[in-house]
Amino acid sequence: MSWEALLEEVKSRPLPRHVGIIMDGNGRWAKARGLPRLEGHRQGALTAERIVRFVVKEGLFSYLTLFAFSTENWARPKREVDGLFALLESFLREKAEEFIDSGIRLLVVGDHRPLPDGLRETIEEVERRTEGNDRLTLAIALNFGGRWAILRAVRDLLRAARSIALGPDEVGEDLFRAYLPTGELPDIDLLIRTGGRLRLSNFLLWELAYTELYFTDALWPDFDEEALLLALKDFQGRERSFGKVVG
Ligand code: IPE
Ligand code: IPE
Ligand code: MG
Repeated sequence: MSWEALLEEVKSRPLPRHVGIIMDGNGRWAKARGLPRLEGHRQGALTAERIVRFVVKEGLFSYLTLFAFSTENWARPKREVDGLFALLESFLREKAEEFIDSGIRLLVVGDHRPLPDGLRETIEEVERRTEGNDRLTLAIALNFGGRWAILRAVRDLLRAARSIALGPDEVGEDLFRAYLPTGELPDIDLLIRTGGRLRLSNFLLWELAYTELYFTDALWPDFDEEALLLALKDFQGRERSFGKVVG
């Protein structure tokens, strides 16, 4: 099937509303070429840019969450961590105008506090400047961990409970969900993980309760428009029953 035919087919059928991607495999991509790991991350940033552009151009879905740095990734060599943050900062700086012009709203989910000042300020600035956009909400999970997110919600709820006299039995799923850092985003319909590992690595936990999971061996720098379309086509062939009997 030609690329264009695949795009048309995918666009003619129900699409997910929110897609999440665990962008894994940058290091292995670099290693296979005898390059430093950071070269893999640099190439990975180009892939992210390309995928975001494609999603917006074709209007494929309205929410995209990209896992860029986990709470466990601090355990990597300092040089790699610093390099990743520098790369993220320049990515956001360079893309700010394009985000604004193409209707992208940037949201960074994760603990901002331990991030370098320059990166934190850039995030805040781009978030503020794209606040009114709604064509694509691009959430970047940065210094993010699923367990951190749940714990933070519990702590914030306990604090709120004191001031608004909230009883334990009044905490339902909807209220709890609102306290998560992704509170304003819909649940993820499709999760894609590149790089061949079959695990979640502490990505979103609560939000993935009924997500369709798609794993591909492609390393993130090699992932492209066609690979995304194949994942969407696979999703379109799934039966989502949410615990019910269907058919
Ligand atoms: C994913 O690629 C990017 C980040 C975790 C920041 P990796 O750096 O984990 O690449 P591999 O898994 O070592 O190939
Ligand atoms: C998950 O990849 C985190 C990101 C893609 C940001 P990792 O490479 O850190 O995960 P593990 O170590 O394979 O579980
Ligand atoms: Mg990895």
